[in-house]
Amino acid sequence: MTCFSSVDESAHYGMSVAVLLGQYRDALGWVEGGVDELGTGDATAIADVVAGLPELRVRSFDINAASVDRARANIAERGVADRYTVEAGDFFDHADAAGGPLAATVIANPPYIPAPDRDILMPELWGGVRGNDLVLQLLKAGYANAICAVASYSDPETTVRTAQDLGYRVANFLAMGLDFGPYSNEPKVREHIRRLCAEGHGWAGEDGYLVAIALFTRNPEVPGDRADELLKALQLS
Ligand SMILES: C[S@@+](CC[C@H](N)C(=O)[O-])C[C@H]1O[C@@H](n2cnc3c(N)ncnc32)[C@H](O)[C@@H]1O
Repeated sequence: MTCFSSVDESAHYGMSVAVLLGQYRDALGWVEGGVDELGTGDATAIADVVAGLPELRVRSFDINAASVDRARANIAERGVADRYTVEAGDFFDHADAAGGPLAATVIANPPYIPAPDRDILMPELWGGVRGNDLVLQLLKAGYANAICAVASYSDPETTVRTAQDLGYRVANFLAMGLDFGPYSNEPKVREHIRRLCAEGHGWAGEDGYLVAIALFTRNPEVPGDRADELLKALQLS
């Protein structure tokens, strides 16, 4: 079993979470209640965020045993083990067992690889046929706020419109272009992405795509809705 590794993507996730937690500090309630995280990976990106924000506590879950081991070592190395904890297992089992959301805000760079089935390079990264199954499940988990990755080739329109149906607005987002890495470049996945985009379920370039880390909120204190801007930012021809 291997651990997820994509340096640029993780750095963008960590940096964006830090910016959004800072900009929307009071509305997100993280000083009082901490944040939950779906999918720790090797933990480096968020461990650096925790190190930089002394009031932040993160409760994270990962389904991949190699990731959990690596994450715990990286967190200990950065000296933040008292405020960044990692539990092995399915995030949604833990959330359900607790009877609902564990905090006001959840953060995630969730699995979003679209493929016809789970038989891909790293099965834990499978996001369903259109890639957005876990984002949709997360939006339905009942959190007041969700800071999560939205990939341009994983049917972002359905993700954003479903979020709106659930009462969320897009408060803000940070988008970045990424080259196809080993997971998106696997021939079976790459071909599937091409087909999805041709059928109008997303956008991808010849060798790359876009990911935005977006803040979905139901908090009425946060004004505005940048849902349409987010979808425009994710468009590639
Ligand atoms: C795209 S990686 C992101 C890792 C890390 N957050 C980062 O950005 O570097 C997604 C992670 O989610 C984990 N994962 C997948 N399904 C999960 C689930 N149901 N519950 C918890 N973790 C899950 C995978 O094992 C993987 O480590």
